[in-house]
Amino acid sequence: MIESTGDGRTWVLSGPTSGYAIGLTDADELLHLHWGPRIAVEDAEALAAQAPPPYRPFESPLDGHEEYPVEGGPRFVRPALSLRTPGVRGTEWSFAAAETDGDELRLRFTDALHALGLTLHYRMRDDADVVERWVTVAHEGPGAELEILRADAAVWTLPRRDSWRLGQLHGRWAAESRLVRAELTYGEKIIGSRRGHTGHQHLPWVALDADGESTEERGEVYGCALGWSGSWRIAVQHLPDGQVQITGGAGHDDSGLLRLAPGDSYTSPVFAGLWSAGGFGGASQAWHAWQLARVIPDAAAERPVLYNSWEATGFDISEERQRALARRAAAMGVELFVVDDAWFGARTSDRAGLGDWTPNPERFPRGLAPLADEVHALGMDFGIWVEPEMVNPDSDLYRAHPDWVQHHPGRTRTEYRNQLVLNLARPDVREHLWRQLDQLLGSAPIDYVKWDFNRCFTDPGWPGEEYPQRLWVEHVHALYGLLDRLRAAHPGVVFESCSGGGGRIDLGILSRTDQVWTSDNTDPLDRLAIQHGFSQLHPARVMAAWVTDSPQTQLNGRRSSLRFRFVSAMAGVLGIGGDLTRWSEEELTEARGWVELYRRIRPLVQHGELHRLRAPGGGLSAVQFLRGEETVVLAWLQAQHYGEPPPPLRLRGLDPAAAYECLESGAVHRGAVLAHQGLHTGLTGDLDAAVIRLRRRSS
Ligand code: GLA
Repeated sequence: MIESTGDGRTWVLSGPTSGYAIGLTDADELLHLHWGPRIAVEDAEALAAQAPPPYRPFESPLDGHEEYPVEGGPRFVRPALSLRTPGVRGTEWSFAAAETDGDELRLRFTDALHALGLTLHYRMRDDADVVERWVTVAHEGPGAELEILRADAAVWTLPRRDSWRLGQLHGRWAAESRLVRAELTYGEKIIGSRRGHTGHQHLPWVALDADGESTEERGEVYGCALGWSGSWRIAVQHLPDGQVQITGGAGHDDSGLLRLAPGDSYTSPVFAGLWSAGGFGGASQAWHAWQLARVIPDAAAERPVLYNSWEATGFDISEERQRALARRAAAMGVELFVVDDAWFGARTSDRAGLGDWTPNPERFPRGLAPLADEVHALGMDFGIWVEPEMVNPDSDLYRAHPDWVQHHPGRTRTEYRNQLVLNLARPDVREHLWRQLDQLLGSAPIDYVKWDFNRCFTDPGWPGEEYPQRLWVEHVHALYGLLDRLRAAHPGVVFESCSGGGGRIDLGILSRTDQVWTSDNTDPLDRLAIQHGFSQLHPARVMAAWVTDSPQTQLNGRRSSLRFRFVSAMAGVLGIGGDLTRWSEEELTEARGWVELYRRIRPLVQHGELHRLRAPGGGLSAVQFLRGEETVVLAWLQAQHYGEPPPPLRLRGLDPAAAYECLESGAVHRGAVLAHQGLHTGLTGDLDAAVIRLRRRSS
């Protein structure tokens, strides 16, 4: 809901529990007034009428208070907008118009020297406490080209508190989305990616709580998350007077994003903000509900249990071996069978074949259709792996078009994993990829595509192009465009975003893919921490998690029971990635039981409300999913010490007056007791795990 004052210069946006207010001063400065619990228009008016901050030498009264600080004039904070035409840099804006369109508020500004139309967009829907913000920068011509050095999507301003704690999700390959929280000190904290993709190093999200007081269940939390799958930057600024502002957008540096000719415009990604009074858990639940309702395509659909052959076969794949795996997977209850890398071109190792998206004639002499048909006959959907944005120099595509890759003339073409990045900003490259992929999806009954991206940008050159740096932004738009076009042409096909595991997870890619590959780390213990971090922002409905072999083959040789591996992976979209041809009959039978159990709890895991009961960290950790009359607890014990039983788990969201029956043991528990005294898991020893289902009794 959007309301404004009678003079049309102060606006209040309201969600179910939160509100956001901004207003123009008499001098047309756009000030931030409020972000927090819901407020009335009168409250916003009172805030707007408050005296401006006192004059202080060497400081700007605007800093820390402006809604979207631009470069130029009396401002010393990091500018959200930096523009130039030859000879004129910076912006001096004047307010032009305000427009409301349903849930969206648009505030338009112009600049007397640049032919600039700048629009700040806000959207807050009645069913979510998320404020979506973005900007458009338009060259409204005539006049010289306008260069956008930086155009952040939004700047978020927090209320004054004594101190703030910053939460972030950091990582690297095979160790993504690990949560850390630390006090925010003065100055600027920058996270981002200058790699061309979202990156394993940080999820584009921050969470701030005041005075380090919030817990999972209580306290105010402010969160901001960016929807962009290329290079990006979020700067959290703790200003000298104690104000905190968070600015974020596409691109890591301010060295140039795009050039606009008269008539051109740039639309930034969305930078979403959320205020919650429900602690970290409440904030996560609100993020999850919003993504399920508004971001993730077809989110109501349940994601099937998949089998993926990568860890089992690596590059050594054959139709016969895939059939053998498929038969075992089907017998286990798997619903989607995915052939990973090495089915195409000359791809018998990572040295060749990327770029040639036709089945390897020796491995699949009759194409993919016979295998896909058999997989369908076994009752499963059929999926494949692709990495369309890349090329191996040893490929037909590269031999035909060596100029199609990002490169600087006369410089080394840096290879990572023996591959180069195609320049998707080129229309001919985009069109080629569209034709290849469209043809591929038409060539066999393919239901699912795992879309990978296995290296960063290193040589972002574009010989012959006057303004090559535009490829950073345009690559992402081209990727989005390809996905949109393929989804429209092949509406039955589901897409997974992968980038060497979790290197491309953000709200932008999630608006056009159905799930993400969380991490190449499939160790069930490491995964608990990765999943704990992931769940801060994204729902389990998109978090793919596999059960692989023990000892762990990829990283650490850790031995763990099938039980522990399954319960770890069942907290997301369950998949199996072990070498099933080596699993014993007992293991296959046990696995079948776990898959069956997962299918029973799947509606809760994928669409229920998540409560993190205890964080991973050596001892007992657990999550609880709640939906309607049912709840399920997934608990893991890393190591037991001193013969002590692990502590009981205090459950959340239950009716204290109701009784709950444990579907595992038949025991009946009182809601009040489960909430206050807790549930005993009975876990013992090392790497133990349990799934405990409870259903509310009707009387
Ligand atoms: C990436 C993915 C893996 C697998 C390989 C195949 O590393 O994250 O899951 O698909 O590529 O080469």
